[in-house]
Amino acid sequence: MIAVYPGSFDPITSGHLDIIERSSALYSEVIVLVAVNPSKKPAFNLEQRVDMIERSVHAAGLNNVRVESFSVGLLVDYVEQSRGQVIVKGLRAVSDFEYEFQMALLNRRLKPGIETVFLMTASEYSYLSSSIVKEIARLGGQIEGLVPDTILEQVRERFAGLQATAGAQLVERS
Ligand code: PNS
Repeated sequence: MIAVYPGSFDPITSGHLDIIERSSALYSEVIVLVAVNPSKKPAFNLEQRVDMIERSVHAAGLNNVRVESFSVGLLVDYVEQSRGQVIVKGLRAVSDFEYEFQMALLNRRLKPGIETVFLMTASEYSYLSSSIVKEIARLGGQIEGLVPDTILEQVRERFAGLQATAGAQLVERS
């Protein structure tokens, strides 16, 4: 059975990788789909996000996982065209539920044959999100363990300049 795990992955976190590993054990093939969420302004472009996931999946030795991107159209159409039967979503806490529930029901209304399956992240990642990782990196905090080791330097470098800018602004104001 082919499962599609969609998301913004801006960037992939250790929590995302945990869900990918769990999906990889359950399904014969997993497509991690980097999709455009129009309500978000990403820090990494689609190509960078795909590359970071590919490196993380490769380092984790997951052979039945491939990474793709899509920027136009409905998720359910992509899933159908890829011969997928299942959309995988990760749940961290009750706060995720309302939004995910709405999307799952809408996706079912659009394509009744495609099921959404929710997997719980490991409890140590329940507080983790791409947004919080970016905020910590931007403020010069330690992100080791929060993202896969293979992408650690890339995330640090992306925000290194911004730390200097934020620091300079603070000095200017003081
Ligand atoms: O990681 P995110 O940002 O929560 O992922 C949201 C995403 C990309 C999965 C969602 O915005 C999506 O499915 N986009 C594709 C367009 C689509 O099908 N929208 C209707 C969803 S009911």
